[in-house]
Amino acid sequence: MSIEIPPGLTELLQGYTVEVLRHRPPDLLDFAADYFSRLRDTRDEQLREGAAPRAKGVNFDGEPMQTESNGEDERREAADDEDSDSDFELCAEAFNPDDDDEDTEPRVVHPKTDEQRCRLQEACKDILIFKNLDQEQLSQVLDAMFERKVQPQEHVIDQGDDGDNFYVIERGLYDIFVARDGQARCVGRYDNHGSFGELALMYNTPRAATIVAITEGSLWGLDRVTFRRIILKNNAKKRKTYELFIESVPLLKSLEPSERMKIVDVIGEKTYQDGERIISQGDKADSFYIVQSGEVKILIKSKTVTGKDANQEVEIARCQKGQYFGELALVTNKPRAASAYAVGEVKCLVMDVQAFERLLGPCMDIMKRNITHYEEQLVALFGSSLDLTNPGN
Ligand code: CMP
Ligand code: CMP
Repeated sequence: MSIEIPPGLTELLQGYTVEVLRHRPPDLLDFAADYFSRLRDTRDEQLREGAAPRAKGVNFDGEPMQTESNGEDERREAADDEDSDSDFELCAEAFNPDDDDEDTEPRVVHPKTDEQRCRLQEACKDILIFKNLDQEQLSQVLDAMFERKVQPQEHVIDQGDDGDNFYVIERGLYDIFVARDGQARCVGRYDNHGSFGELALMYNTPRAATIVAITEGSLWGLDRVTFRRIILKNNAKKRKTYELFIESVPLLKSLEPSERMKIVDVIGEKTYQDGERIISQGDKADSFYIVQSGEVKILIKSKTVTGKDANQEVEIARCQKGQYFGELALVTNKPRAASAYAVGEVKCLVMDVQAFERLLGPCMDIMKRNITHYEEQLVALFGSSLDLTNPGN
């Protein structure tokens, strides 16, 4: 005899279960009464408004659960359309930044030796999505991180999997593969620093790439729950802080608002003091910069242009609030063509090369057009040009 499960029952009970796990109420029956009456109120409200009822769950403050998507994985979106269970999963894990459950959630702590703690701090000091955390948030993140050693050819992440951890690289080389139309293509490499695995945790999507260790290496993992509790909460704050500024950046004008917000999610703010070098000519490049406040001057070694006097640097440009720099080496895949210094105190929004390639594709034409102006600028200043794609040191 087969027992028919009424449509919607599974989702209804799953929604309740998720809320119980999130809030751990002392009285399950009271909580259930409250939860289901809010759910009914939400449904009735939607019916009154003439909309088809769509709330499959409610946050415990009574709001229908919202979902976020990074819009980058069409395959997953198509799958979601077909599969209401994955739909549910997206709803169930929605994040409400106003839920202040920091003191009710058990904290994850992985004890570490002093030596491990030192290595961890060193690995995390330039991680952009940690940059805007306050001291307390950062120490909770560091407490929760755990060490993972990897071997050559080990798959740390497989595209399409659910996201479990975010990873910070302590050492090792890691190739990034993205499969499209059944073909896996290597789109980049992490070289002994950086981080990966944030997208599936931020946007509740399957892993967007495969990450394979090329050498023996060491990573620091951060579990999904701690990541979402701290980093996502901070991202909600970052979105509010940077929204207006990011909208005002000319380079980003052609992007959709949701694309600009994805930029905000992965950028980190860095402050530089007067005279501090931000970029050094000839260095390997891994970041892109937008001036948030203050001024940046760009200097080039005169030898690069004139062939004489190796030590002298000549100013060639200034970047003000809303302007960008550091794109040339990322676009050409060459060393930095010039150096950049802070004039007075400077704040920059910084993006890593992987995010630059993933998110700024639509702005590439504008950047390439401006790169051709660099050549003209050098001709005007020095009466001679150089191949900017092959800068001398
Ligand atoms: P996530 O989708 O969680 O897991 C795979 C990770 O690879 C992803 O997060 C990013 O951190 C990283 N990554 C690096 N380059 C890319 C890229 N071009 N597309 C998607 N993910 C990338
Ligand atoms: P990148 O080569 O990555 O680092 C130095 C940056 O200086 C470069 O990218 C540009 O963003 C910026 N820049 C501004 N004017 C010039 C110029 N005339 N030639 C080269 N770089 C320039």
